[in-house]
Amino acid sequence: VTGKVSLTVNGSRFEKDVDTRTTLLDLLREHMHLNGTKKGCDQGQCGACTVIVDGRRINSCLSLAIMHEGAQVTTIEGLGQPGKLHPMQAAFIKHDGYQCGYCTPGQICSAVAALDEVKQGIPSHVSGDLTAQPMLSLDELRERMSGNICRCGAYSNIVDAINEVAG
Ligand code: FES
Repeated sequence: VTGKVSLTVNGSRFEKDVDTRTTLLDLLREHMHLNGTKKGCDQGQCGACTVIVDGRRINSCLSLAIMHEGAQVTTIEGLGQPGKLHPMQAAFIKHDGYQCGYCTPGQICSAVAALDEVKQGIPSHVSGDLTAQPMLSLDELRERMSGNICRCGAYSNIVDAINEVAG
C-alpha cells in the first residue's frame, strides 16, 4: 500500500508516494539521500537516527513518514548555514565530542533540541521546575542526552561541547 508523504525537510518541500511502512529515517536516507542521519539499531534504542520534527527531537526509525504530513523536519544537513557550521557542530569539533562519528549527527540534533527544551522550560526527570534552575546541571544534561548512545564512550567530551553552547 502506498501513501503520500508531504513535508518540509531542511527548508525544502518534499512530496512522494511511498510504501506506507516507510519510516521517516528510511525516507530521509533512501528517498532523499540525506545520509547524515544514521541507522544504528533501527529499534529506538541508540538515538543515532535523531532528527528534529516541528522543534522536538524524535527517533526517526520509530516514526512512519506518512505521519508527518506538513511537518518541518531538520536533519544534521540542515542545522548550519551554507559554509557555516551550527554552533553545536563547531563545539563538538572543538571538544572532540566523537570518536568514530557514527552517533554524532544524532547527538548534535538531540543536543540542539535539548537546549531548546531547557529554554522553553520543559522539565526532564531530573530538573523538576526549570524556572528555579536556569543553569544546566551535569545530571540534568546527562539525563536529557540519555537517549543518545556513544559506543566509543566520548561522553565527557560530548558534555563539554554541549555545556559550551549552553553557556
Ligand atoms: Fe533509531 Fe537506533 S536507529 S534509535
